[in-house]
Amino acid sequence: MDQVDLENSCYACHPGVRTQCQRDVHYARGIGCTDCHGGMADVGDQGRTPWVDEPRCSTCHSRQGFQFEQANTLYRDSKGHSGVHCYACHGSPHAITPTVTEPDNLQAINLQGHAGVIDTCAVCHTSPPDEPFFHKVND
Ligand code: HEC
Ligand code: HEC
Ligand code: HEC
Ligand code: HEC
Ligand code: HEC
Repeated sequence: MDQVDLENSCYACHPGVRTQCQRDVHYARGIGCTDCHGGMADVGDQGRTPWVDEPRCSTCHSRQGFQFEQANTLYRDSKGHSGVHCYACHGSPHAITPTVTEPDNLQAINLQGHAGVIDTCAVCHTSPPDEPFFHKVND
Protein backbone atom coordinates (compact mmCIF):
# COMPACT_ATOMS: atom_id res chain seq x y z
CA MET A 1 0.00 0.00 0.00
CA ASP A 2 2.91 2.34 0.71
CA GLN A 3 3.81 2.13 -2.96
CA VAL A 4 0.43 3.17 -4.29
CA ASP A 5 1.03 6.50 -5.94
CA LEU A 6 -2.25 8.16 -5.14
CA GLU A 7 -3.00 11.10 -2.91
CA ASN A 8 -5.71 8.93 -1.35
CA SER A 9 -4.69 5.28 -1.10
CA CYS A 10 -8.26 4.06 -0.44
CA TYR A 11 -8.88 4.93 -4.08
CA ALA A 12 -6.51 2.14 -5.12
CA CYS A 13 -9.66 -0.01 -4.85
CA HIS A 14 -12.62 2.20 -3.96
CA PRO A 15 -13.79 4.39 -6.82
CA GLY A 16 -13.39 8.06 -6.26
CA VAL A 17 -11.05 10.25 -8.21
CA ARG A 18 -13.67 10.62 -10.92
CA THR A 19 -16.82 9.19 -9.32
CA GLN A 20 -16.43 11.46 -6.28
CA CYS A 21 -17.97 8.95 -3.88
CA GLN A 22 -17.07 11.37 -1.10
CA ARG A 23 -18.14 14.82 -2.14
CA ASP A 24 -19.60 16.39 0.96
CA VAL A 25 -19.10 19.26 3.35
CA HIS A 26 -16.35 17.25 5.07
CA TYR A 27 -14.47 16.77 1.82
CA ALA A 28 -14.76 20.51 1.21
CA ARG A 29 -13.12 21.10 4.59
CA GLY A 30 -10.28 18.65 4.05
CA ILE A 31 -11.69 15.71 6.03
CA GLY A 32 -11.03 12.48 4.13
CA CYS A 33 -11.59 8.72 4.36
CA THR A 34 -9.04 8.01 7.05
CA ASP A 35 -10.25 10.81 9.35
CA CYS A 36 -13.56 8.96 9.71
CA HIS A 37 -12.68 5.32 8.94
CA GLY A 38 -9.07 5.14 10.10
CA GLY A 39 -6.41 3.57 7.89
CA MET A 40 -6.11 0.11 6.36
CA ALA A 41 -5.13 -1.48 9.68
CA ASP A 42 -8.23 -0.06 11.36
CA VAL A 43 -10.58 -1.11 8.57
CA GLY A 44 -8.99 -4.57 8.50
CA ASP A 45 -8.98 -4.94 12.29
CA GLN A 46 -10.44 -8.34 13.17
CA GLY A 47 -12.10 -6.81 16.19
CA ARG A 48 -14.56 -4.84 14.13
CA THR A 49 -17.62 -6.11 12.28
CA PRO A 50 -17.55 -5.03 8.63
CA TRP A 51 -20.59 -3.09 7.38
CA VAL A 52 -21.75 -2.67 11.00
CA ASP A 53 -18.95 -0.86 12.83
CA GLU A 54 -18.97 2.24 10.67
CA PRO A 55 -18.17 5.85 11.58
CA ARG A 56 -20.75 7.74 13.60
CA CYS A 57 -21.53 11.44 13.50
CA SER A 58 -21.52 11.49 17.29
CA THR A 59 -17.86 10.43 17.40
CA CYS A 60 -16.92 13.94 16.35
CA HIS A 61 -20.03 16.08 16.77
CA SER A 62 -21.58 17.11 20.03
CA ARG A 63 -23.87 20.00 20.66
CA GLN A 64 -25.95 21.07 23.63
CA GLY A 65 -29.47 19.62 23.34
CA PHE A 66 -28.70 17.68 20.14
CA GLN A 67 -28.81 13.89 19.78
CA PHE A 68 -27.41 11.99 16.82
CA GLU A 69 -27.70 8.33 15.70
CA GLN A 70 -29.77 5.81 17.66
CA ALA A 71 -27.71 3.27 19.63
CA ASN A 72 -26.49 0.30 17.55
CA THR A 73 -27.98 1.80 14.42
CA LEU A 74 -26.22 3.01 11.31
CA TYR A 75 -26.66 6.57 10.15
CA ARG A 76 -28.58 5.30 7.13
CA ASP A 77 -31.16 3.63 9.38
CA SER A 78 -31.32 6.29 12.09
CA LYS A 79 -34.18 8.75 12.48
CA GLY A 80 -34.53 11.97 14.39
CA HIS A 81 -37.01 14.82 14.82
CA SER A 82 -40.09 12.60 15.23
CA GLY A 83 -39.19 9.76 12.91
CA VAL A 84 -37.57 11.62 10.01
CA HIS A 85 -34.57 9.84 8.50
CA CYS A 86 -31.29 11.69 9.11
CA TYR A 87 -30.55 11.61 5.40
CA ALA A 88 -33.83 13.35 4.57
CA CYS A 89 -32.37 16.53 6.03
CA HIS A 90 -28.61 15.92 5.68
CA GLY A 91 -28.06 13.74 2.61
CA SER A 92 -26.35 10.35 2.31
CA PRO A 93 -23.22 9.53 4.36
CA HIS A 94 -20.64 10.65 1.82
CA ALA A 95 -22.76 13.49 0.47
CA ILE A 96 -23.64 15.41 3.64
CA THR A 97 -24.90 18.74 2.35
CA PRO A 98 -23.77 21.23 1.24
CA THR A 99 -21.77 19.15 -1.23
CA VAL A 100 -19.12 20.12 -3.77
CA THR A 101 -21.27 18.54 -6.52
CA GLU A 102 -24.19 20.69 -7.68
CA PRO A 103 -26.74 17.89 -8.33
CA ASP A 104 -26.68 16.85 -4.66
CA ASN A 105 -27.61 20.38 -3.62
CA LEU A 106 -30.59 20.75 -5.97
CA GLN A 107 -33.17 19.17 -3.70
CA ALA A 108 -32.45 21.63 -0.88
CA ILE A 109 -32.24 24.57 -3.27
CA ASN A 110 -35.55 23.63 -4.89
CA LEU A 111 -37.29 23.10 -1.55
CA GLN A 112 -35.95 25.99 0.51
CA GLY A 113 -33.92 28.25 -1.75
CA HIS A 114 -30.50 27.42 -0.33
CA ALA A 115 -28.14 24.44 -0.19
CA GLY A 116 -27.22 22.65 3.02
CA VAL A 117 -29.25 20.87 5.68
CA ILE A 118 -33.04 21.15 5.35
CA ASP A 119 -33.58 23.75 8.08
CA THR A 120 -36.68 25.50 6.82
CA CYS A 121 -39.72 24.39 8.82
CA ALA A 122 -42.17 25.13 5.99
CA VAL A 123 -40.57 22.46 3.80
CA CYS A 124 -42.49 19.90 5.89
CA HIS A 125 -44.82 21.77 8.25
CA THR A 126 -47.92 23.18 6.59
CA SER A 127 -48.53 25.49 9.55
CA PRO A 128 -45.70 27.04 11.61
CA PRO A 129 -44.88 24.76 14.62
CA ASP A 130 -45.67 26.43 17.97
CA GLU A 131 -42.71 24.83 19.69
CA PRO A 132 -39.01 25.23 18.90
CA PHE A 133 -37.03 22.86 16.70
CA PHE A 134 -35.71 19.74 18.43
CA HIS A 135 -32.88 17.47 17.26
CA LYS A 136 -33.65 14.40 19.37
CA VAL A 137 -33.92 10.77 18.32
CA ASN A 138 -36.67 9.33 20.49
CA ASP A 139 -39.49 11.84 20.40
C1 HEC B 1 -6.76 -3.50 -1.77
C2 HEC B 1 -8.07 -2.95 -2.11
C3 HEC B 1 -8.72 -2.05 -1.05
C4 HEC B 1 -8.18 -0.91 -0.48
C5 HEC B 1 -6.82 -0.27 -0.74
C6 HEC B 1 -9.21 -0.38 0.40
N1 HEC B 1 -10.33 -1.18 0.36
FE1 HEC B 1 -12.03 -0.94 1.46
N2 HEC B 1 -12.83 -2.60 0.60
C7 HEC B 1 -12.24 -3.36 -0.39
C8 HEC B 1 -13.16 -4.42 -0.79
C9 HEC B 1 -12.89 -5.48 -1.87
C10 HEC B 1 -14.32 -4.28 0.01
C11 HEC B 1 -15.58 -5.15 0.00
C12 HEC B 1 -15.41 -6.27 0.98
C13 HEC B 1 -16.60 -7.18 1.03
O1 HEC B 1 -17.61 -6.96 0.37
O2 HEC B 1 -16.53 -8.15 1.81
C14 HEC B 1 -14.07 -3.14 0.88
C15 HEC B 1 -14.97 -2.68 1.82
C16 HEC B 1 -14.78 -1.57 2.63
C17 HEC B 1 -15.71 -1.10 3.63
C18 HEC B 1 -17.08 -1.71 3.93
C19 HEC B 1 -16.92 -3.01 4.72
C20 HEC B 1 -16.45 -2.73 6.11
O3 HEC B 1 -15.34 -3.20 6.45
O4 HEC B 1 -17.14 -2.06 6.88
C21 HEC B 1 -15.16 0.02 4.20
C22 HEC B 1 -15.76 0.88 5.29
C23 HEC B 1 -13.89 0.26 3.55
N3 HEC B 1 -13.69 -0.72 2.61
C24 HEC B 1 -13.07 1.33 3.83
C25 HEC B 1 -11.80 1.51 3.26
C26 HEC B 1 -10.92 2.62 3.59
C27 HEC B 1 -11.25 3.73 4.59
C28 HEC B 1 -9.79 2.46 2.85
C29 HEC B 1 -8.52 3.32 2.88
C30 HEC B 1 -7.91 3.43 4.20
C31 HEC B 1 -9.96 1.25 2.05
N4 HEC B 1 -11.20 0.72 2.34
C32 HEC B 1 -9.03 0.75 1.17
C33 HEC B 1 -10.98 -3.17 -0.91
C34 HEC B 1 -10.09 -2.19 -0.53
C1 HEC C 1 -17.39 12.26 7.50
C2 HEC C 1 -17.02 10.87 7.71
C3 HEC C 1 -16.73 9.99 6.54
C4 HEC C 1 -15.78 10.17 5.56
C5 HEC C 1 -14.84 11.34 5.38
C6 HEC C 1 -15.82 8.98 4.73
N1 HEC C 1 -16.77 8.12 5.18
FE1 HEC C 1 -17.17 6.27 4.46
N2 HEC C 1 -18.73 6.10 5.74
C7 HEC C 1 -19.06 7.02 6.71
C8 HEC C 1 -20.25 6.57 7.39
C9 HEC C 1 -20.97 7.31 8.50
C10 HEC C 1 -20.60 5.32 6.80
C11 HEC C 1 -21.73 4.38 7.19
C12 HEC C 1 -23.01 4.96 6.72
C13 HEC C 1 -24.22 4.12 6.94
O1 HEC C 1 -24.38 3.08 6.30
O2 HEC C 1 -25.05 4.52 7.73
C14 HEC C 1 -19.61 5.06 5.78
C15 HEC C 1 -19.60 3.91 4.98
C16 HEC C 1 -18.60 3.59 4.08
C17 HEC C 1 -18.52 2.37 3.31
C18 HEC C 1 -19.54 1.24 3.35
C19 HEC C 1 -20.57 1.54 2.30
C20 HEC C 1 -21.89 0.97 2.56
O3 HEC C 1 -22.69 0.95 1.61
O4 HEC C 1 -22.23 0.62 3.70
C21 HEC C 1 -17.39 2.42 2.54
C22 HEC C 1 -16.87 1.38 1.56
C23 HEC C 1 -16.77 3.71 2.82
N3 HEC C 1 -17.52 4.39 3.75
C24 HEC C 1 -15.60 4.15 2.23
C25 HEC C 1 -15.13 5.46 2.31
C26 HEC C 1 -14.06 6.00 1.51
C27 HEC C 1 -13.27 5.20 0.47
C28 HEC C 1 -13.91 7.31 1.88
C29 HEC C 1 -13.00 8.36 1.27
C30 HEC C 1 -13.17 8.55 -0.18
C31 HEC C 1 -14.87 7.58 2.94
N4 HEC C 1 -15.60 6.44 3.17
C32 HEC C 1 -15.00 8.79 3.62
C33 HEC C 1 -18.39 8.17 7.01
C34 HEC C 1 -17.35 8.70 6.28
C1 HEC D 1 -14.04 12.37 11.96
C2 HEC D 1 -14.93 13.34 12.58
C3 HEC D 1 -16.28 13.60 11.93
C4 HEC D 1 -17.28 12.69 11.67
C5 HEC D 1 -17.28 11.18 11.89
C6 HEC D 1 -18.39 13.47 11.18
N1 HEC D 1 -18.06 14.79 11.12
FE1 HEC D 1 -19.22 16.31 10.45
N2 HEC D 1 -17.67 17.62 10.63
C7 HEC D 1 -16.45 17.30 11.21
C8 HEC D 1 -15.60 18.49 11.18
C9 HEC D 1 -14.20 18.60 11.74
C10 HEC D 1 -16.36 19.51 10.54
C11 HEC D 1 -15.92 20.93 10.20
C12 HEC D 1 -16.27 21.83 11.34
C13 HEC D 1 -15.84 23.24 11.01
O1 HEC D 1 -15.41 23.52 9.89
O2 HEC D 1 -16.00 24.07 11.91
C14 HEC D 1 -17.66 18.92 10.22
C15 HEC D 1 -18.70 19.60 9.62
C16 HEC D 1 -19.98 19.11 9.46
C17 HEC D 1 -21.12 19.86 9.00
C18 HEC D 1 -21.11 21.34 8.62
C19 HEC D 1 -21.36 22.11 9.88
C20 HEC D 1 -21.28 23.60 9.69
O3 HEC D 1 -21.19 24.28 10.72
O4 HEC D 1 -21.28 24.08 8.55
C21 HEC D 1 -22.21 19.01 8.99
C22 HEC D 1 -23.63 19.35 8.58
C23 HEC D 1 -21.74 17.73 9.45
N3 HEC D 1 -20.37 17.82 9.73
C24 HEC D 1 -22.54 16.63 9.60
C25 HEC D 1 -22.06 15.35 9.89
C26 HEC D 1 -22.87 14.14 9.83
C27 HEC D 1 -24.34 14.09 9.49
C28 HEC D 1 -22.04 13.11 10.18
C29 HEC D 1 -22.39 11.63 10.26
C30 HEC D 1 -22.85 11.01 9.01
C31 HEC D 1 -20.72 13.66 10.44
N4 HEC D 1 -20.78 15.02 10.26
C32 HEC D 1 -19.61 12.92 10.82
C33 HEC D 1 -16.07 16.10 11.72
C34 HEC D 1 -16.78 14.92 11.58
C1 HEC E 1 -35.71 17.76 10.31
C2 HEC E 1 -34.36 17.86 9.79
C3 HEC E 1 -33.26 17.11 10.49
C4 HEC E 1 -33.19 15.76 10.78
C5 HEC E 1 -34.25 14.69 10.54
C6 HEC E 1 -31.88 15.53 11.34
N1 HEC E 1 -31.18 16.69 11.41
FE1 HEC E 1 -29.25 16.88 11.99
N2 HEC E 1 -29.41 18.92 11.84
C7 HEC E 1 -30.55 19.61 11.40
C8 HEC E 1 -30.33 21.03 11.60
C9 HEC E 1 -31.32 22.13 11.23
C10 HEC E 1 -29.05 21.17 12.17
C11 HEC E 1 -28.35 22.47 12.61
C12 HEC E 1 -27.64 23.06 11.45
C13 HEC E 1 -26.93 24.36 11.81
O1 HEC E 1 -26.81 24.71 12.98
O2 HEC E 1 -26.49 25.02 10.87
C14 HEC E 1 -28.49 19.82 12.28
C15 HEC E 1 -27.22 19.52 12.74
C16 HEC E 1 -26.64 18.27 12.74
C17 HEC E 1 -25.24 17.97 12.95
C18 HEC E 1 -24.14 18.99 13.17
C19 HEC E 1 -24.15 19.39 14.63
C20 HEC E 1 -23.05 20.39 14.95
O3 HEC E 1 -23.36 21.58 15.05
O4 HEC E 1 -21.90 19.98 15.05
C21 HEC E 1 -25.10 16.61 12.87
C22 HEC E 1 -23.82 15.81 13.05
C23 HEC E 1 -26.40 16.06 12.63
N3 HEC E 1 -27.31 17.09 12.53
C24 HEC E 1 -26.67 14.70 12.54
C25 HEC E 1 -27.96 14.17 12.44
C26 HEC E 1 -28.29 12.76 12.61
C27 HEC E 1 -27.32 11.67 12.93
C28 HEC E 1 -29.64 12.66 12.41
C29 HEC E 1 -30.53 11.44 12.50
C30 HEC E 1 -30.55 10.77 13.83
C31 HEC E 1 -30.14 14.00 12.10
N4 HEC E 1 -29.09 14.87 12.15
C32 HEC E 1 -31.44 14.28 11.78
C33 HEC E 1 -31.67 19.03 10.86
C34 HEC E 1 -31.99 17.68 10.91
C1 HEC F 1 -37.88 17.21 6.84
C2 HEC F 1 -39.18 17.55 7.39
C3 HEC F 1 -39.24 18.47 8.61
C4 HEC F 1 -38.64 19.70 8.78
C5 HEC F 1 -37.72 20.44 7.83
C6 HEC F 1 -39.07 20.17 10.07
N1 HEC F 1 -39.90 19.28 10.65
FE1 HEC F 1 -40.75 19.43 12.49
N2 HEC F 1 -41.62 17.62 12.25
C7 HEC F 1 -41.57 16.83 11.12
C8 HEC F 1 -42.33 15.63 11.33
C9 HEC F 1 -42.53 14.49 10.32
C10 HEC F 1 -42.88 15.72 12.63
C11 HEC F 1 -43.82 14.71 13.31
C12 HEC F 1 -45.22 15.10 13.01
C13 HEC F 1 -46.22 14.15 13.65
O1 HEC F 1 -45.82 13.23 14.35
O2 HEC F 1 -47.42 14.37 13.47
C14 HEC F 1 -42.42 16.98 13.18
C15 HEC F 1 -42.76 17.44 14.44
C16 HEC F 1 -42.38 18.67 14.96
C17 HEC F 1 -42.78 19.18 16.27
C18 HEC F 1 -43.65 18.43 17.28
C19 HEC F 1 -45.01 19.03 17.36
C20 HEC F 1 -45.78 18.91 16.08
O3 HEC F 1 -46.03 19.94 15.44
O4 HEC F 1 -46.09 17.77 15.68
C21 HEC F 1 -42.24 20.43 16.40
C22 HEC F 1 -42.39 21.39 17.58
C23 HEC F 1 -41.48 20.71 15.19
N3 HEC F 1 -41.59 19.61 14.35
C24 HEC F 1 -40.78 21.87 14.95
C25 HEC F 1 -40.07 22.13 13.78
C26 HEC F 1 -39.39 23.39 13.52
C27 HEC F 1 -39.37 24.60 14.46
C28 HEC F 1 -38.80 23.26 12.30
C29 HEC F 1 -37.93 24.27 11.55
C30 HEC F 1 -36.75 24.76 12.26
C31 HEC F 1 -39.11 21.91 11.81
N4 HEC F 1 -39.89 21.28 12.73
C32 HEC F 1 -38.66 21.38 10.60
C33 HEC F 1 -40.85 17.10 9.99
C34 HEC F 1 -40.06 18.22 9.78
